[in-house]
Amino acid sequence: MRTLHWLFLVSVALFISGIGFVIAGARASRQADPAEEGAVTTPVASIAQIMNGIVQPNATVVYNAVGTFVSVQGVKEVAPQTDEEWAAIGNSAAALVESGNLLLLGSRVVDTGDWIKMTRAYMDASQRALTAAQAKDKDGILTAGSDLNDTCDSCHAKYQRQ
Ligand code: HEC
Repeated sequence: MRTLHWLFLVSVALFISGIGFVIAGARASRQADPAEEGAVTTPVASIAQIMNGIVQPNATVVYNAVGTFVSVQGVKEVAPQTDEEWAAIGNSAAALVESGNLLLLGSRVVDTGDWIKMTRAYMDASQRALTAAQAKDKDGILTAGSDLNDTCDSCHAKYQRQ
């Protein structure tokens, strides 16, 4: 009878501590939630606004950074001269890479196939422009700029709504 009584007490104790673990576990998982909520972002701009507000102006900076430009004044070789000019091109290239992240956010993901593939190609070309700007590599800017332009065209060919 006495052993039974102890067995009963031990099992009650185990049961209570079991509940304690469940509660502690639930609290721990609830504590993880706010961090997750903090990481959730709210997309605001339309794709057209991202294109006009971020992509187009920064792509223009990269395209015009290096090259031979012909105008009424004659032929002009253009290349960044100062650290600040190279940094400005790097800033634009970095904005282009980040705009790719925006295209992969929430409802902007049109599909999980070509949209992602084409956005990654666009980010990759932008990243190469950024690396070239950091290395002050004029040829690198030219090739990255030309590849970048191709990625705009192929995405527009498939997805641009008329
Ligand atoms: C992954 C796909 C994708 C890539 C890459 C992309 N675009 Fe776009 N772009 C779009 C889509 C989709 C639209 C149509 C948006 C709409 O009308 O709702 C668009 C529209 C535009 C527009 C017109 C916006 C308007 O007012 O209708 C411009 C300008 C533009 N893109 C520039 C660029 C440039 C420059 C690049 C490359 C440096 C580029 N885009 C790369 C998908 C892309």
